[in-house]
Amino acid sequence: MTEIRQILVTNALPYANAALHLGHILEYTQTDVWVRFQRMCGHQCYYVSADDAHGTAIMLKADEKGISPEQHIADMRSIHEADFRDFHISVDNYHSTHSDENRELSELIYNRLVANEHIAKREITQAFDAEKQLFLADRYIKGTCPKCGAEDQYGDNCEACGATYSPTDLINPVSALSGTTPIEKKSDHYFFKLPEFTEFLKTWTRSGAVQDEVANKLGEWLETGLQEWDISRDAPYFGFEIPNAPGKYFYVWLDAPIGYMASFKNLCDKNNLDFDQYWAADSSTELYHFIGKDIVNFHALFWPAMLTSANFRTPTKVCVHGFVTVNGKKMSKSRGTFINARCYLDHLNPEYLRYYYASKLTASVEDIDLNLEDFTQKVNSDLVGKVVNIASRCAKFVTKGNDGVLSSTIENPVLWQQVSDAGKVIAEHYENREFSKAIREIMAQADAANEYIAAKEPWKLNKDETQQQKVQDICSLGINLFRLLLTYLKPVLPSVAEDAELFLNDTLSWSSIESPLINHKINNFKPLLQRVEKDQVNAMVEASKQDIAQVVTKPVEGPLKDQPLAEEISFDDFIKVDLRVARIVKAEAVEGADKLLALTLDIGGETRNVFSGIKGSYQPADLEGRLTIMVANLAPRKMRFGVSEGMVLAAADKKGIYLFSPDSGAQPGQRVT
Ligand code: MSP
Ligand code: ZN
Repeated sequence: MTEIRQILVTNALPYANAALHLGHILEYTQTDVWVRFQRMCGHQCYYVSADDAHGTAIMLKADEKGISPEQHIADMRSIHEADFRDFHISVDNYHSTHSDENRELSELIYNRLVANEHIAKREITQAFDAEKQLFLADRYIKGTCPKCGAEDQYGDNCEACGATYSPTDLINPVSALSGTTPIEKKSDHYFFKLPEFTEFLKTWTRSGAVQDEVANKLGEWLETGLQEWDISRDAPYFGFEIPNAPGKYFYVWLDAPIGYMASFKNLCDKNNLDFDQYWAADSSTELYHFIGKDIVNFHALFWPAMLTSANFRTPTKVCVHGFVTVNGKKMSKSRGTFINARCYLDHLNPEYLRYYYASKLTASVEDIDLNLEDFTQKVNSDLVGKVVNIASRCAKFVTKGNDGVLSSTIENPVLWQQVSDAGKVIAEHYENREFSKAIREIMAQADAANEYIAAKEPWKLNKDETQQQKVQDICSLGINLFRLLLTYLKPVLPSVAEDAELFLNDTLSWSSIESPLINHKINNFKPLLQRVEKDQVNAMVEASKQDIAQVVTKPVEGPLKDQPLAEEISFDDFIKVDLRVARIVKAEAVEGADKLLALTLDIGGETRNVFSGIKGSYQPADLEGRLTIMVANLAPRKMRFGVSEGMVLAAADKKGIYLFSPDSGAQPGQRVT
């Protein structure tokens, strides 16, 4: 009996300002597969997560929606939780960084840093938006690039020429929030004295806590010299106020990783677990953080240094993964490859993607390409063609011929042993996060099983009365091999495995691979997985494009100079657009869309259904009966909620949406020129 490990696992806490997309799902799949594998081995493995709820972006997003930050983060949290649940992410607790536990732990840790003299205070000068009364982070300042003259570039780098600079170098800098010119303003900030941990971090990063390639990168930073880390932000800020520093708030990245502890604390309180056993400096438990390559400095420098100063344990491992690209390119909104988790779920089975990601995941930080053709092909040929096929070919003989009872002998003990033994190396691959190697090994064993069945041809033997026992023996082994394969795939395909468990009348665990099922009654076989159809994938890509275009009236900011005129068109171009007076006969909210209204428009004897992103500014009932203008000859667009047959015209900016109306007397169906 191997020792039972006590493991606590986290994934990076998603920001509460946006929906999850398929990039996030890579990380949560990687974490979940690893966690499920540990649990299958009989280890104690807790998996906690939370929404990362603080910061300027979230505050502004709530403002934009006209709701409180608390309401906004509550809405996002339930959306995220539903996405996690539907992708079978088996978290033991999902919490929020905006929680009592997190406030208490953040204050505790901060107070310990202060007591250890690891916090410095000094005045700094920053850009300030006098109209909004906000200090502006670099990404909220825009202006002309000092190098190449490209307009409308962000405060820290130019997308046109790639130059990096500080916002003070920008020509004509303006606040992206108000359009006004920022002023410079001084204020006191608090800093974590990271450089004092340089020696500790040099040792820690080489202790096996991160992958070698990550340690090398960190090594470069450690050699160049670390800077003190600014951990405070001025009010207004959505976060926790710093103890004894009125008007100063913890920077979101100070309390975000503490959110791991807070979520676990919340679980401990609910389930009567021992928090200190996992977090005390001398803890003998294991702590794993799964994160993307963009947030390594926070997890492998700031975080272990803070934990050390505050007398808590440091992570056993920070497991860093690369980024998802789709069809070889960065996810793109216009190509429809910026795919939200929910949009995927609306069209495809989550386990297809879990399998595809697992088949590509390694322990390295290399990016992972989701190639949609390869995805379709791999799922169909591996899962449907190889694995499920074994059971569907063998089950019927056993259920019909022997009343569902598996044979008392193993027809080919060498083959059984080979597939059973493969469990050891597959387990090692899972443990080392070499999922792609695990999957390759599993598929090699599936090939062996299929070759065996193909060579034995039980369907031919079955025609011969004297061969009935042989048929039972062959198919019973087939089912037993299927059972092994499904055990190996269970961390990746939890729901398929659950169905297979019903069929096999057995619980699949890592210890059960040693012995086959003999004289064991199984249940009727039901198809476990459908093939992926190309149409479903295409529909998802189309829907992703529409998801993005969903906000038909996209709020734009500022006067004409900030929104340059579109390319010149001829009269012939213009006249192609058929604008009609329309009467709104019906307006209703669209379930699942926070910005859309479904409008039924009468254009003179003919009605059109149009989805319009005007819900934020209009009550449906107020719209019914009024006239507006619509584009009547726009090609119909399939959206997630139905087909949209045109567009209504409205002006829009941050302050509101203004639907066009003709003067009274206009008639539905009249052409507008
Ligand atoms: N809130 C922070 C994490 C705080 S952890 C204490 C954050 N949130 S995030 O929503 O932007 O990202 C969450 C995780 O998803 C990160 O680990 C990030 O690397 C990962 N990914 C975001 N986009 C991704 C891809 N395109 N591909 C793979 N992972 C991606 O960062
Ligand atoms: Zn430039």
